[in-house]
Amino acid sequence: MAKKIIHIVGTGTIGEPLIGLLTNYRKELDIDEVTFNKRTPLKTDRSKVVDLLRRGAKMSTERDQISGFEKLGIKVDYDTEEAIKRATVVIDCTPSGAGLANKEKYYTAAAKAGGKGYIAQGSEFGFGKMYARGINDETLIPGDDKFIQVVSCNTHNLSALIKMFGTQNNNDPQNLVSADFVCMRRANDISQDDDFVASPEVGKHKDEQFGTHHARDAYYLYKTKGWEMKNLYSSAIKLNTQFTHIVRFHIKTKKETSVENLIKIIKDDDRQALTYKKSANQVFSFGRDHGFFGRILNQTIIPHETLSVHNGTDIYGFCFTSQDGNSLLSSVSAAEWAIDPETYEKKIQCLKPYFFPEV
Ligand SMILES: NC(=O)c1ccc[n+]([C@@H]2O[C@H](COP(=O)([O-])OP(=O)(O)OC[C@H]3O[C@@H](n4cnc5c(N)ncnc54)[C@H](OP(=O)(O)O)[C@@H]3O)[C@@H](O)[C@H]2O)c1
Repeated sequence: MAKKIIHIVGTGTIGEPLIGLLTNYRKELDIDEVTFNKRTPLKTDRSKVVDLLRRGAKMSTERDQISGFEKLGIKVDYDTEEAIKRATVVIDCTPSGAGLANKEKYYTAAAKAGGKGYIAQGSEFGFGKMYARGINDETLIPGDDKFIQVVSCNTHNLSALIKMFGTQNNNDPQNLVSADFVCMRRANDISQDDDFVASPEVGKHKDEQFGTHHARDAYYLYKTKGWEMKNLYSSAIKLNTQFTHIVRFHIKTKKETSVENLIKIIKDDDRQALTYKKSANQVFSFGRDHGFFGRILNQTIIPHETLSVHNGTDIYGFCFTSQDGNSLLSSVSAAEWAIDPETYEKKIQCLKPYFFPEV
């Protein structure tokens, strides 16, 4: 039987924990080998690469960078192209269109040659079918959907809120009248030095219909289910913090509801969490102490004391985005689906300890 190899491109905020997660749960996820591509040989990154290799992953880089890594004392196992060609599934964790460029340069040919799946992240709009675990799994078509884009962490959050409150847990898409979101984003991740802001900074509404990419991507995610959710709108503001993102929402529904009913819906969905905590640092701190290397995998964390229902059909509230845990979960789920659509649900249950009903 052919070896099952998952290859991760990029070792940044998303790539690094993903490589860790996959090496840690290699047996449970039934993977034979985890490989990763690191582009730049840097002394500052040597410790991370050495540790990922110690945990059982193998490494690739561009041919002209191999000697740079060797000078750092790091053994390179494959060159970039070879690692992609031999992988069963590739999870691209690069930003700013690099995933789209890699699709053209490598993945399209590798897919034709028999590779099973190519997955990219939130910034790579147009890479493939949009996906978020638990939202549109049923739309993935074995054999057809070799290219998948995992939506961004905030889009996961918006989509989970739309699912729970707008469609009453997927039972009634007609129930949603409109949804408006303000994504209050951390300026950068604790692993990143660049792009911090000195004070809150508002973002442009670049998309005429949806405001920012968050609502646009949620629209396209739900479109894969045949649902036309045109009345979505989002805004974004960067905050001078490195802790979790927060989203403020207003969801309007046809049917009347109540706070008690909303809390029951959250409790019935085992991918979401309730919390009495009110600050991003408290939520982040819980993740650091109880998550997988700091990551909890819930899609949204709702401080239920902030929930409010106005006139029966206007739902207001805040929620926290679980750092990048929801994107990690969907990446693992999509990769396991590509390897075997029949067994992926069962295999990814090994990640259950990182879901919390209460944070
Ligand atoms: N940060 C988050 O919280 C978050 C959450 C959800 C989704 N996402 C999405 O995840 C993706 C990655 O974001 P990130 O925050 O993890 O980025 P990041 O921390 O900046 O890391 C990017 C990584 O990609 C590598 N890279 C960049 N360009 C490359 C290229 N052309 N070829 C090969 N490798 C390349 C870099 O390699 P070198 O270091 O070797 O140069 C680096 O390891 C984006 O689509 C983003 O939207 C991010």
